[in-house]
Amino acid sequence: MNIILLGAPGAGKGTQAKMLQEKFLIPQISTGDMLRAAKQAKTSLGLEAQKYMSAGTLVPDEVVIDLIRERLNAADTKQGYILDGFPRTVSQAEALANMLKAIGSQLDLVISLDVSEEDLVNRLTGRRTCSQCGAGYHLQFSPSKVKDVCDRCGAKLIQREDDQEKTIRYRLKVYQDQTAPLVEFYQKQGILKKVPGTGSLEEVFGRLSSIVSKL
Ligand code: AP5
Repeated sequence: MNIILLGAPGAGKGTQAKMLQEKFLIPQISTGDMLRAAKQAKTSLGLEAQKYMSAGTLVPDEVVIDLIRERLNAADTKQGYILDGFPRTVSQAEALANMLKAIGSQLDLVISLDVSEEDLVNRLTGRRTCSQCGAGYHLQFSPSKVKDVCDRCGAKLIQREDDQEKTIRYRLKVYQDQTAPLVEFYQKQGILKKVPGTGSLEEVFGRLSSIVSKL
């Protein structure tokens, strides 16, 4: 099953994609995580992407399309995958459709997670991530047991550079302008399901699981 999780920054795509990955045993593919890994490894792609990510703008389509093309060739995607953060523009969605068509594959489901703007800002300003294992926390909603220390591996928790309020508001605008049109794009194909992204992590996960289980 090939699934896309759509949603504004902070809608819970990454959190829910990781939970779905564990339950349904198909990999989460996050372009944001791939770009951050390239940035940390200081590859030329990572250094190029950093300029866009720090500013809250999108990395050029051709860069992320190439990343996804390579990732979808990996053996672990044969039973399906959960795309998190890709596609983000109509051009990316069209490139994905062409890629899948070329290998006789297709998308099964696109889930759009809906959350209000003020909730999104609260979620992102309070988000903290482990600098080593990548585990996700929230200062208010899912805090670590010891402040700024990862429960799982003991490493330091960090705040993402693009999680400052001014950049968050800009990312939300970029989402409205460039990514929100994908809701209609997939609605027309009859594969879109809108799901409320509010409530506890478990409540949202319950809604998503029941839809994915039906595939
Ligand atoms: P990316 O990493 O994809 O960021 P994003 O889409 O902005 O999404 P986030 O990771 O901020 O939010 P999320 O929806 O995953 O929420 P999360 O689960 O963490 O992209 C970053 C940048 O990379 C982009 O700006 C761009 O520059 C570049 N990029 C990436 N892909 C690209 C592409 N395809 N094309 C071009 N450029 C690209 O949750 C957020 C917080 O809320 C967490 O603390 C979590 O604990 C909490 N939370 C989650 N759910 C709940 C809940 N139900 N209740 C309470 N708290 C909750």
